Amino acid sequence: MSAAAANARITADRPLSWPIDTASALPAERGDESLSVVIPTFNEAGNIAELLQRIAACLADVDWTVIVVDDDSPDGTAEVVRRAGAVDPRIRCLKRIGRRGLSSACLEGMAMARGRFLAVIDADLQHDERLLPRMFELLATGDFDLIVGSRYMDNGTVGSWRRSRRWLSRAATQLTRSLLAIRLTDPMSGFFMIRREAVARAAPRLSDSGFKLLLDLVASSPAPLRAVELPYAFSARVHGLSKLDAGVMRSFIGLLLRQCARRSCGRFGRFCLIGTSGIGVHLLVLEIGVTTLHVAFPAAQTVAVLVSMASNYTLNNRFTFDAGRLHGIAFLNGLSRFAMLCALGAVLNVAVADAAMRLGGLRLPAAALGILAGALCNYVLSGVFVWRRGSAIRP
Ligand code: GDD
Ligand code: MN
Repeated sequence: MSAAAANARITADRPLSWPIDTASALPAERGDESLSVVIPTFNEAGNIAELLQRIAACLADVDWTVIVVDDDSPDGTAEVVRRAGAVDPRIRCLKRIGRRGLSSACLEGMAMARGRFLAVIDADLQHDERLLPRMFELLATGDFDLIVGSRYMDNGTVGSWRRSRRWLSRAATQLTRSLLAIRLTDPMSGFFMIRREAVARAAPRLSDSGFKLLLDLVASSPAPLRAVELPYAFSARVHGLSKLDAGVMRSFIGLLLRQCARRSCGRFGRFCLIGTSGIGVHLLVLEIGVTTLHVAFPAAQTVAVLVSMASNYTLNNRFTFDAGRLHGIAFLNGLSRFAMLCALGAVLNVAVADAAMRLGGLRLPAAALGILAGALCNYVLSGVFVWRRGSAIRP
């Protein structure tokens, strides 16, 4: 059977939740400061022995284990690993039968790992294993939760990819970064090291299908991860074939949409709630202006508009876009941009309501549609132009 046919043999990922009770597993493992390197494999018989040797050589000063998670590769990858494990007991193999999927393979490997530090590296020698000692050193300082091997920062490269794949990867990376407000240069990297606790915290929200485990971990983390990236050159694959196919792309798009929806629902809800609170602020200021301070109505109304806008802005800065919260001069700049976007939203609101009124002739639904359009426009544009630094990663 050719490798391509074998890849196509089982296509579906089977969903599987984090298969270990991390809460009860953790106390026993506390104090185990070792590194567990998880290597997912499917038809990597031509690469895995070489990678295992390279890892053993470069981690000479580290207490490590390797867990190869093989999905019953027809080319006998698991056998190669077992032979290596017979010589070096730090090398273990988890063979999954009737299952496929890179992310789920990595998660199951992590669940089996004993160490508090977990690395994921591809088996095909495309990732630079010489980064592992430095990654470990950085993670062990306690200053970070996550170290990522990046192809897209200075001194990193994607190597000899075809122009189409290079373009596709860049476009997908940019899209992901802006949609999910992730600051990593290479959120789709398959090469990273992470603290076990960080995985455990994200675990309940992970999708575990597809290829993009790192992205899912970062986007599913309840609190921002303290991350750092190290550049490396992505090497060309010499033996075997890539398994990135249309199914992988579909599952990536699914992951992106799910994460986006989860993020936006809560956020947009807060944005609307704050917008509604602005009406209260407006009426209060107007009332005080007219009845207590005896200001003329147009002047009081103008002040009320400005105050309610500033109050909306301040609350959104604190509660809606808190990951990219602005301070000092940036806060004031943001306020002026927010004011312009509010004006734009108001124009859109009126235009949409007017169009809806012409079409349907019902005042209330038309007004509601206008308000929704204005709020959505405000929300989306504010995310891009005011709080554009929003980030799921702390620098
Ligand atoms: N167990 C298991 N099950 N392993 C798999 C599966 C699977 O279904 N599919 C792929 N793998 C293993 C491969 O054997 C290899 O070790 C690794 O996962 C990466 O697969 P490739 O097919 O070589 O993917 P790629 O080179 O196109 O993309 C990789 O590198 C990119 C850059 O870091 C992936 O890791 C991408 O997620 C990553 O963006
Ligand atoms: Mn590869």
